[in-house]
Amino acid sequence: MPVTVVVGTQWGDEGKGKVIDLLAGEADWVVRYQGGGNAGHTVKVGDRQYVLHLVPSGVLHDGKTCVIGNGVVVDPEVLVEEVDDLASKGRSLDGRLFVSDLAHVTLPYHRRMDEAHEAKRGAGKIGTTHRGIGPTYADKFGRVGIRMGDLLDPDVFLRKVRRNLEEKDYLFRNFYNVEPVTIGEIEASYRKYMPRLGPMIADTVPMLRDAVAQGRRVLLEGAQGTLLDVDFGTYPYVTASNPTVGGALTGSGLPAMAVTGCVGVAKAYTTRVGAGPLPTALPDEEDEKLRVLGREYGATTGRARRTGWFDAVAVRRAVAVNGPTDLAVTKLDILDTMDRIQVCVAYEYKGRKLVEFPNSIEVVENVKPVYREFPGWKQPTTGARRWDDLPGRAKEYLEGLSGLVGVPVTIVSVGPERNETIRVRV
Ligand code: IMP
Repeated sequence: MPVTVVVGTQWGDEGKGKVIDLLAGEADWVVRYQGGGNAGHTVKVGDRQYVLHLVPSGVLHDGKTCVIGNGVVVDPEVLVEEVDDLASKGRSLDGRLFVSDLAHVTLPYHRRMDEAHEAKRGAGKIGTTHRGIGPTYADKFGRVGIRMGDLLDPDVFLRKVRRNLEEKDYLFRNFYNVEPVTIGEIEASYRKYMPRLGPMIADTVPMLRDAVAQGRRVLLEGAQGTLLDVDFGTYPYVTASNPTVGGALTGSGLPAMAVTGCVGVAKAYTTRVGAGPLPTALPDEEDEKLRVLGREYGATTGRARRTGWFDAVAVRRAVAVNGPTDLAVTKLDILDTMDRIQVCVAYEYKGRKLVEFPNSIEVVENVKPVYREFPGWKQPTTGARRWDDLPGRAKEYLEGLSGLVGVPVTIVSVGPERNETIRVRV
């Protein structure tokens, strides 16, 4: 374990929350490194289900130190509400949750801008989560962002907000035709949340440096997935950060050589929420069937996810970019009743066979998947706890996936519960 990165290898919603929760049991520190309140990590512990947006999934184990790294964009309202909700369920975070002072703050004008921008794009919209993620990162890179550290001094914070509102007001009124956000609104929210946030804000770089130097085990928790990465994903239908392994470094401040492992998480099939191409999308009727079977509705927005077969071309791209040492395959049990299961092994485009994921969105939108068929195992797998408990055809399927993407499957999830998991080396 020492320093392990967990990344999504598809379009997000791979079941990272459960895998991170599982691995967090063996870690000392759990660090979120990118994204923000757009993420929704669902973890089931006993009869309680938790949906985490900003707080690292390690929080569901006692005694772990949790960090929201500098690469994350933090909406104070979302964070404080989440921390309070966890405390009401007996998961107190006092003294064990730290937020980097370098992390950028999502403010009400970012959320409004996200909505207004999407409305303006009309049919070409990205289908964002409306959590203000893109506009917060845009301000970060435009060098007008406000960081968690700025919140510690009300004068500094309000001065920077006022400066930004000048431009935002103009855009809201004259370009987007929506009501601008007022300084009064922001100040009221600041006064409400700051007493709770203040004690969590820290310089987390030396904390993580010292943890690694002392041999502590650190888990770096990615949100979204590789095909939603702003560089490597299906641009422009992507999120505004790097969920891939590089983002784990820039988003935590840990050096590259500290990382000792990477777990790529892949669902046994594929889903996508929001706009953008999904090459292996199922026809409507089958799509609805798999969505219901897999309970494929967004943890953050409740939106229906589109479903498709496992796409080895897309996952191979994720393997190239992240170099996972391990593959965790989740939701295998959802395929238990299938007669036949397809896996996309290549794409066809204008009569040519493509084995690499195309970088051009126009190409991705028009590829035809080339499938390899696997026979279904038609038996329940949820009770399996060891590799040998799995039906032969389920093992063949997993071995097939492993061979196609070139990474050993070491974790198989067969149900939502913590213990409905197989640790294995194929
Ligand atoms: P944003 O991250 O809200 O800007 O949304 C950009 C795209 O990423 C949209 O297609 C969203 O549906 C998608 N997205 C953002 N967060 C998640 C996630 O946690 N899981 C799956 N898709 C996500």
